[in-house]
Amino acid sequence: MGREFGSVGVVGLGTMGAGIVEVFARSGLAVTAVEISDGALHRGEATMRGSLDRAVAKGKLSAEDRDALLGRVRFAVGLDALHDVDLVIEAVPEQLELKQRIFAELDRVCKPEAILATNTSSLSVTEISVATGRPNQVIGMHFFNPAPIMKLVEVVRTVVTSQDVVTDIEALCERLGKVDVTITDRAGFIANALLFGYLNQAVSMVESRYATREDIDAAMKLGCGLPMGPLALMDLIGLDTAYEILDTMYRRGGRDRRHAPVPLIKQMVTAGLLGRKSGRGFYTYEKPGSPVVVPDEFTPIGGGAGSSAEHVAKVGVVGSGTMATGIIEVFAKAGFEVVSVTRGAEKSAQVCERLKTSLNKGVVRGKLTEKDRDAAIGRVTWSATLDHLSDVDLVVEAVVEELSVKKALFASLDEICKPGVVLATTTSSLPVIECAVATERPADVVGLHFFNPAPVMGLVEVVRTIRTSDATVQTATAVCRALAKHAVVCADRSGFVVNALLFPYLNDAVKMVEASYSTADDIDYAMKLGCGYPMGPFELLDVVGLDVSLAIQRELYLELREPGFAPAPLLEHLVTAGYLGRKVGRGFRDYSKR
Ligand SMILES: NC(=O)c1ccc[n+]([C@@H]2O[C@H](COP(=O)([O-])OP(=O)(O)OC[C@H]3O[C@@H](n4cnc5c(N)ncnc54)[C@H](O)[C@@H]3O)[C@@H](O)[C@H]2O)c1
Repeated sequence: MGREFGSVGVVGLGTMGAGIVEVFARSGLAVTAVEISDGALHRGEATMRGSLDRAVAKGKLSAEDRDALLGRVRFAVGLDALHDVDLVIEAVPEQLELKQRIFAELDRVCKPEAILATNTSSLSVTEISVATGRPNQVIGMHFFNPAPIMKLVEVVRTVVTSQDVVTDIEALCERLGKVDVTITDRAGFIANALLFGYLNQAVSMVESRYATREDIDAAMKLGCGLPMGPLALMDLIGLDTAYEILDTMYRRGGRDRRHAPVPLIKQMVTAGLLGRKSGRGFYTYEKPGSPVVVPDEFTPIGGGAGSSAEHVAKVGVVGSGTMATGIIEVFAKAGFEVVSVTRGAEKSAQVCERLKTSLNKGVVRGKLTEKDRDAAIGRVTWSATLDHLSDVDLVVEAVVEELSVKKALFASLDEICKPGVVLATTTSSLPVIECAVATERPADVVGLHFFNPAPVMGLVEVVRTIRTSDATVQTATAVCRALAKHAVVCADRSGFVVNALLFPYLNDAVKMVEASYSTADDIDYAMKLGCGYPMGPFELLDVVGLDVSLAIQRELYLELREPGFAPAPLLEHLVTAGYLGRKVGRGFRDYSKR
């Protein structure tokens, strides 16, 4: 018979604690919510009431249920109020000494059989447990933000946590409607170990003015389907908490430079810019605690004033692969005249066939009328020679990802195209500047990195080299707007924004499996249920292709020489073995029998 939890205590009613109280009270448990002072208690109570009132306003909770829920919560100052609870969850700031002090005190106050849990994100549960006389009853219960919404709890067992305690906590998670993954005590557990390197890297992009906060966030939302961008997430987590987590992970997790907090974070914390909770972090909020972003001095003014795509009417698309075909469709549907150039009539016929198939799908799904489909097809002319690009206003190149081929193509375009034309490459990994200097007009060359499938994905990365002119960037972004795509502008560095932030995270997930810390299934669960990702890293790797992923990771490593970016040996071995992902029926998972 497992243990019955009748009452629980929560220590610290900040970002996480207030949410955790709500989770327990929602499932019918009596909760004692404890803070350090009257002021902090009132703030915590107000946070919780605010969250419940929002749920009522959205029709997700009835007013009676809210009142009943609040009736189950007792608010108190000081740990003595926890003397008769069956379980305590501690959610005070991420500092080891503070947590150890609180656990020593809890050990004194709480009844002997009570379980003591910490919500720490990165500190050693073992080190916290030894501050008590009952380390076998100490466990990590790592909730995710916002706790009432995110389904995951990482249950962290130390070498001394007793099995009964683990089993009881797992059963409790189920009762709370949560999914748990049980793991051992390692810095950052699963989710944060994979998340925080990425968040820190995104902050360094802001710090180095590589791209704007809005563009970085939009890139990750639109390019990867994430529920929020990394900078908005930093604000939600709280910059002080994020700083402590990074700092601990750096010190505990093998001094990986990627976890050394970017200096900007410390500066913002010192200046009191803690994120949502203080009303200002990377973004500015309506008031402290509010999720509503309001404009500030960094907010871009009205979508690229003065720039328009009016002078771009005719577009050349070079290439015959998946991307070229998708890009032809995007331009033709948006009303541009398109000249498709391939290496021969046969290739052109294939591209035309694929274009028609895709447009027909749009008709079947009711997204396109037959008339619009026919008009789009009618806008495309087919050619096997670059000479037909002599009168276009923009060229988008989407040929094979080989620098020598692209450079030769740009040299030819330079000879053929009229002056003032924007010449764009869709490369996802090669330096755009290499294409630019293959011409006599580098100021007119830009990267237009579409995502696959181009007709579906709403993002385009506009890559400006050190020689791209402002006018070229403005035309490129205006064209994206005319295509109803969201343009984010970034510098010409390996991986641009999305791949530079995405692939190191995927590579880290592979390293985590390689180190036998967790399984592909649990890691996929953790990222989906803890962070709201649409796919887990292993699902995504299998879709993208392990060979493609390895190639991108290698490029990042070679360009940035960051030791933490070295491709995971397991990834290399799987590629060598031919396990390339879904396209061959086997990658991290075997699809042949499904
Ligand atoms: N913020 C996140 O997204 C997130 C997610 C998961 C886990 N965590 C972890 O949860 C814990 C709390 O983080 P947070 O972001 O909620 O911090 P926070 O700063 O928002 O809240 C901490 C609260 O603890 C209170 N407190 C401080 N000392 C106390 C004491 N002696 N007794 C009682 N209360 C005390 C403070 O008044 C404050 O309200 C940390 O260990 C953090 O790593 C945070």
